Amino acid sequence: MCGIIGYVGQREAYPLLVSGLEKVEYRGYDSVGICTADDTLHLLKEVGRVEQFKNHLLPGTMGIAHSRWATHGGVCQKNAHPFIVREKFTLVHNGIIENYLELKEQLRGRGDVFSSDTDSEVILHLIAQNFKTDLLSAVRQTVHALRGAYAFAVMAKGNSEIVAARNGCPLVIGVGNGEHFLASDVAAFIEHTKNVIYVNDFEIARVTKETVKISDFEGRGIIPKQREIFWNVEQAQKQGYPHFMLKEIMEQPLTMEETLHVPLPALPTPKRMIIVACGTASYAGLVGKYVIEKVARIPVVHETASEFRYKEPLFLPGDLVILISQSGETADTLAAARLAKEHNVNTLGIVNVVESTIAREVDDVIYTRAGPEIGVASTKAFTAQLIALYKLAYHFAGKEFTGKKVVLLTEQVLQLREEIKKIAERYVNNQHFLYIGRNIFYPLALEGALKLKEISYIHAEAYPAGELKHGPIALISEEMPTIALCLESETYDKMFSNIQEIKARKGKVIAFASEGDAKIKEICDDVVYLPKVDELLSPLLVAIPLQLFAYTVALLKGCDIDKPRNLAKSVTVE
Ligand code: AGP
Repeated sequence: MCGIIGYVGQREAYPLLVSGLEKVEYRGYDSVGICTADDTLHLLKEVGRVEQFKNHLLPGTMGIAHSRWATHGGVCQKNAHPFIVREKFTLVHNGIIENYLELKEQLRGRGDVFSSDTDSEVILHLIAQNFKTDLLSAVRQTVHALRGAYAFAVMAKGNSEIVAARNGCPLVIGVGNGEHFLASDVAAFIEHTKNVIYVNDFEIARVTKETVKISDFEGRGIIPKQREIFWNVEQAQKQGYPHFMLKEIMEQPLTMEETLHVPLPALPTPKRMIIVACGTASYAGLVGKYVIEKVARIPVVHETASEFRYKEPLFLPGDLVILISQSGETADTLAAARLAKEHNVNTLGIVNVVESTIAREVDDVIYTRAGPEIGVASTKAFTAQLIALYKLAYHFAGKEFTGKKVVLLTEQVLQLREEIKKIAERYVNNQHFLYIGRNIFYPLALEGALKLKEISYIHAEAYPAGELKHGPIALISEEMPTIALCLESETYDKMFSNIQEIKARKGKVIAFASEGDAKIKEICDDVVYLPKVDELLSPLLVAIPLQLFAYTVALLKGCDIDKPRNLAKSVTVE
């Protein structure tokens, strides 16, 4: 996800654009750029953060700006936005154009020369090609050729308007006095105006300093609905959510959907895989082990990076070492990647930050499209890692992982927020929790326990449910509730018996179960029902209520949810 900004008015545009970029940098910060316009286009763009541009000034009372979170094309100056084509048109874009390669080939065939590796630049070449006398008509013709999700803003030299289009990515207009702003979110301009017009999907806005005209992709006029908002800057950055973590939990249907479309590198089918990661990424990897072995029938070894790097691991011919990391900077995981390479073993990264150290050092990389994850507790990156692992498993089985249906069901699971809140209120004062699951649900028990520990500081530990009678059941009491992942599965009956054993010892049980399972409600203290899906796909749904439960308990305890004590977003030291 990136941040786009536009300004047209009576004031110098440059300082307003710099200030706006600072407010949306959390949306993406690997590179940044500004273009202002008078009778010339004035461009500044570079890798790095907007801080570097503070002491510059570009002339003009209109301009566009961009803070980038790379998805297509590396992190380098040429791939930073804005782009300029024919020294006349300039554009900034947030989103992904899925058919950009075929469009780029067509444009190249007509002699167009590209300055970047991005999908975004293709939009601008199309607009330039379609331009006759009117920018709005050129944009309207262009959007019909695009497939994907986007919000972009385009300007033309000597033209006192900004034209912006939206399909699937946020775009909002700030209405000032003799001036207008455009942005990915209101944080960019809320200090200047709280009067906003939200542009909807399949709409195009034509903005001058005096007017805002909105029309649909067929050219039909739409009356702009102006409203007043009452957020401050920080609230706006969280899009109104109280914490980045909650915003990121709620974004998962979108980020999982986007990651469904990531391209897989051409990989020879390995004889064995070794999945190495830390923390939440490690638990994603353990789900990956279950899925790959089930679907592709290829053996997978699961390793914790901090152990792996010191155990003198045994590698076999045909091994593939898979490193999973949201940040791409975790020291132990990076060390594991380097160890594999020292032994000439193929390495594949599943990474969220483009051009991060791990991404640059592995042989191949799958970039998840979770966008910047600001909350220290990993949520949307985890489910994006799962999607990438399912895609990989099906790929090695010679199939395609569609996953669309189960991703759509995540919207329904997010509606459980209020129900989970009620349950959390009943258990917020407990000091210890047990999380249990069997088979593919065991890694989810581990992840659920970690989420609770790291943001609410409540002790929680996870066990394979079959392990209970080998010791942990001695812990069971009324003071130690158990979260039991007991969805429809091959091991349902065994899980049900485990719950009965706990209940027989006066333990309280919160079960996550499949819709329609009336039996489990008779023995458990609380039940959260999830939509019925194939057992193999259940992790993609179960992760979300576990995140919501941890979030709600921590909220009720008044914890610092986005910045939990003792933790950092990326552990770049041992
Ligand atoms: C997860 O909520 C934690 N923040 C932590 O366990 C994290 O998953 C771990 O440090 C790995 O980080 P990475 O994915 O950036 O490598």
